[in-house]
Amino acid sequence: MQRDPRFTRFQVWPLTGALGAEVSGIDLGKTSDAAVYQEMRRALDEHHVLAVRDQKLTPQTLHEVARRFGPFSGNPVHSPMDGFDDIVRFVREPDDTGKVIGEEWHMDLAWMAKPPGITMLYGEVIPPVGGDTCFASLEHVYQALSPTMRQLLSGLTGIYSGKGVYAINAKHSRLGLRNDATTAEETEVEHPVICAHPATGRPYVFAASVLQRFKGMSEAESKPIIDFLMATAIRPEFTCRVRWQTGTLTMWDNPVVLHTAIGDYPGHRRVTYRTTVEGWAPRAASPEVPGATPRAA
Ligand code: SIN
Repeated sequence: MQRDPRFTRFQVWPLTGALGAEVSGIDLGKTSDAAVYQEMRRALDEHHVLAVRDQKLTPQTLHEVARRFGPFSGNPVHSPMDGFDDIVRFVREPDDTGKVIGEEWHMDLAWMAKPPGITMLYGEVIPPVGGDTCFASLEHVYQALSPTMRQLLSGLTGIYSGKGVYAINAKHSRLGLRNDATTAEETEVEHPVICAHPATGRPYVFAASVLQRFKGMSEAESKPIIDFLMATAIRPEFTCRVRWQTGTLTMWDNPVVLHTAIGDYPGHRRVTYRTTVEGWAPRAASPEVPGATPRAA
């Protein structure tokens, strides 16, 4: 593994050829230096997933670190933990059964008008093995498409729906849901399908599990294309996998990646804290947006 020399205030070690990096040599809870946070943001724009190792965060310091990246995005579904409007505590106990929280490829709150720009997840209790999180690059999906497919998708608007979101979350008995969380069921937003990242200008495909159909097309007509995009996103060469350690703070560029939790640690406890940073309303890109290509897969 070779260090990314573009970052000097901490060490950045790319995880795979597609996306993701480990970060070491920084204690975020102990620095408020704006230059460090700007460089961290630049590393996130470049690598899309950062596993920042060896942090010692409390809910209070996680809150402070997160808010240095920007205001809270809001979370219309989950009840926050006591004392913090912007933090949700995810707990999996050793005797819990069924799927773990987030065990399917998804983007956080993709059905919002402005999906969160950054998700941050801090690992407090991590199983001895298992419980990794996998990520997939939506920039690579764009790069993998033929010119004809890019052109077709550029002309489409996606309908992203919160239908089913309440039921998925309600299955987790340890997850508190907001009293008005069922309003997600009625929420539908329109976003372009081919978008440009606001910082880098790079095109990505806004594929997500909540992409229900394309405007002007039926669900049956849309489904094969959506299935194709989701299957392309999770091709192994477009993914990375974060192996957690106690004290890892993983943050991801939420609108340009999909992620999934892995439920392979029965009999063990896992406790994480999640917060999100406000994002942007996805902007359409032309298929010929100039700009750097993502890392070669
Ligand atoms: C999530 O989907 O936000 C949680 C991911 C994880 O717990 O690994």
